[in-house]
Order: sequence, then C-alpha cells, then structure tokens
Amino acid sequence: MIVRPTGASTILIADDDHYAQKALEALLRVEGFHVIVAQDGQEALERINESRPDLCIIDFDMPRLNGLETCRRIKGHHETRLLPVIMVTGLLPEEEKTRAIEAGCDDFLPKPYEQDALLTRIRSLLRIKSLTDELEDAEAILMTLVRTIEAKDRYTLGHADRVGRYAVMLGRALGCNAFELESLRKGGMLHDIGKLGIPDAILQKAGPLDDNEWEIMRKHALLGGEICKRLKSLEGILPIILHHHECLDGTGYPSGFKAPQIPKLVRIVNVVDIYDALTSRRSYKEAYPVKKAFQTLWEEVERGWWDGDIVKVWEEIVMRESGG
Ligand SMILES: [Fe+2]
Repeated sequence: MIVRPTGASTILIADDDHYAQKALEALLRVEGFHVIVAQDGQEALERINESRPDLCIIDFDMPRLNGLETCRRIKGHHETRLLPVIMVTGLLPEEEKTRAIEAGCDDFLPKPYEQDALLTRIRSLLRIKSLTDELEDAEAILMTLVRTIEAKDRYTLGHADRVGRYAVMLGRALGCNAFELESLRKGGMLHDIGKLGIPDAILQKAGPLDDNEWEIMRKHALLGGEICKRLKSLEGILPIILHHHECLDGTGYPSGFKAPQIPKLVRIVNVVDIYDALTSRRSYKEAYPVKKAFQTLWEEVERGWWDGDIVKVWEEIVMRESGG
C-alpha cells in the first residue's frame, strides 16, 4: 500500500548525482510534496510502476537507462503516457533538446535550478495532470459502461476490448501515427457505447430482430455520438462511433455515407468489428472459423461494403498471427 500525506502530490526525482538529488528532495518536501527517488532510469521506471507519482523530474545523464530513453518509455506506455516529465540538464545542444521533445518531455530545467522557476513549472504541470486525470476518469467510466452493456449479453463479452486491440494492430500495419492509434484504441472500445440507450429486451433477444427492433437498434450509432460529444477528449473518435455501420456503397447507417466520406480510421474499425462479430458466437449463429470469416468479408467487399485494401492487410496479420 502507498502511504502518502493527504492531498500531497507525489514527485519522483531520478538523478545519479546524490547531492543534487538530496537538495531537490529537501526543497520539494519543504513545499509539502511527497517525494520518491531513483538513482537511474531503470529504477525510475520501477518506482513509477510501484508508486504512480504525479510528476517526474529526470536527469538527462544517468547510468543504466538515460533520461531520454526513460522519458520515451514513460510516454510510450499507455498507463503512464500522461505523466508529466521535467528533464534536468546542464547545457543542452539544440539537437538534444529536439530529441527530448520528440521523446515526449514536457519541460526542461537547466542546472543549477532557479527555485521559484522550478516550483512554478511543477505546479503548472500538476494542474494540467489533475485535469487530464479527471478526463481519464470520465473515459474509464465510459469503458466500464461498455463492459456493462456486454455483460448483459454473454455473446458479446470481450467484443469491445478485442475490437480496440485489433484496430490498433491493423492501424499500425497501415502506418497510422500515435494519435490515430490512440483514437483507434478508444474508438474501437467505445464504438457501441450508444447501446446504453437500447432496451435490454432488444439487446438480449435470443432470436433475430424484427424490422421495428432493428430500427431501434440502429439508433445506437447516433446515441453513442450524443454520449461522447460531451467529452472534449473524445472528439477525435466521434466519426468512429457515429459511422461504424456505414458501408462504402452508401447502404449503411446512420448517414448513408459513401466511400469518400468514410475516413480511414472508420474503415479500419468497420473491418475488425465485422471480423470479430463473424468469428464470435452470437445468439443467431455459431462462431465462424477464420477462413469462413474472411470468405464472408471478401464477399462483402465485392458487394461494395468494406475497403478491400484494409481487409487484405487484416487477413495478412491474422494469418501471420495464427501461423496460417
Ligand atoms: Fe455497432
């Protein structure tokens, strides 16, 4: 269990220079922060894992894992990517600064520190951190709600997690950048959030839906958009949520968009969403083997529904992963 003073933010100092570390630790403690320390980058990652600090102050030059690589790993990991990192450096050439920014570093601090400047930067980054924590909490609640919807129907259990995971795999193979991959992860997981507004009698119906029930079920795309548009941080995934049932030939819903209006990220989620539905057992059908699932997907590409280039890449990934 982590014991810390109520309300105090925790700051990790990673520095192999013992005296510099002690001086900074004393300053931060006087200011009311809870402090944890590490002697190098590797130890810093371990401390972060154990103690979940609110901010890190990392020395540029450290043994085992240097500051740059430590920062890159913090920012590259889903759970710590929003953790603010201040890099402490002596005189840093411009190109090193660029590398640190590329590694995701939030701020620099020249050695020796000017105390007031340091405390101002820390407080400002901690304010931002607390706002992003609130946003993360709101997103976590939505993820929990998605799982609640799934729990009502044993046939869709795990669908949202798989679609999020598959969408990232496919997006990576298609050259999506980090921002797009994050949108694919969140969009894949939350694509059916609008089912929160669909009556259980329809969600859990054992047999096929009649026309009237289908009409209600189709509303989940627009309902999902309504739920997510309230969260600014989810703006980037709105097209995925709203349009994950559009087809390239315009026969999908809710907008009947055609190919030019359907962005790449939506097409990616389309393909993995359908793939997962085909390869999972549903109340109205058995799980298809992979080969039959792709046969169906290709028939639907022929019909003009899905993007064949994307289906092709997904098929290659699935075959490679399954050793087929
Ligand atoms: Fe859906």
